[in-house]
Amino acid sequence: MISIIVAVAQNGVIGDKNSLLWHISEDMRFFKRTTSGHPVIMGRKTYESLGRPLPNRTNVVISRTQTAIEGCKVASSLEEAMAMFPNEEEVFVIGGAQIYALAIDIADKFYLTRVGHNYEGDTSFPEWKSDEWQLISKEDYERGEKYPYPFSFEVYERKQK
Ligand SMILES: NC(=O)c1ccc[n+]([C@@H]2O[C@H](COP(=O)([O-])OP(=O)(O)OC[C@H]3O[C@@H](n4cnc5c(N)ncnc54)[C@H](OP(=O)(O)O)[C@@H]3O)[C@@H](O)[C@H]2O)c1
Repeated sequence: MISIIVAVAQNGVIGDKNSLLWHISEDMRFFKRTTSGHPVIMGRKTYESLGRPLPNRTNVVISRTQTAIEGCKVASSLEEAMAMFPNEEEVFVIGGAQIYALAIDIADKFYLTRVGHNYEGDTSFPEWKSDEWQLISKEDYERGEKYPYPFSFEVYERKQK
């Protein structure tokens, strides 16, 4: 099964100049706890922004130009990446915008951190059809330990057709 995990600013922005625009330690911990032990699939640019494979996870990088990256598996499409794992295994698509756009209409589950602030950035989350998704959990925070704006962890499942 495919899960998407992302943190999105109030105005839809997810990044700028191939890096993140905020540091929310609660969200970093949520991401680590949620994805650890599961495969993660990412675009080549997101891999470059991380700079190394994420530990305790099989890392798959999607690229049309690269064929080998140390410590990672490389796939030339999302389908090729998904075919590396059994259907029942929860596999996380962790960005960026290009790879989210490939996955949003076929994903089964959607872990959305809503960041309650507007940011200027060059990369935004793609349009998604909120009526196709059922909210199954939500945790709201007025601020973080070190982050001054509100944020929420929302988890959605695709509605049964
Ligand atoms: N807020 C969040 O939760 C979050 C999460 C992740 C990333 N981000 C941000 O998102 C930004 C990066 O996103 P991005 O959209 O620019 O890049 P990206 O999706 O990470 O990577 C794009 C690359 O993926 C490969 N690719 C894309 N579509 C493909 C396809 N159909 N088949 C094969 N390969 C394909 C290409 O690699 P090649 O050029 O090698 O062919 C392309 O250049 C950064 O700012 C990052 O910080 C934010």
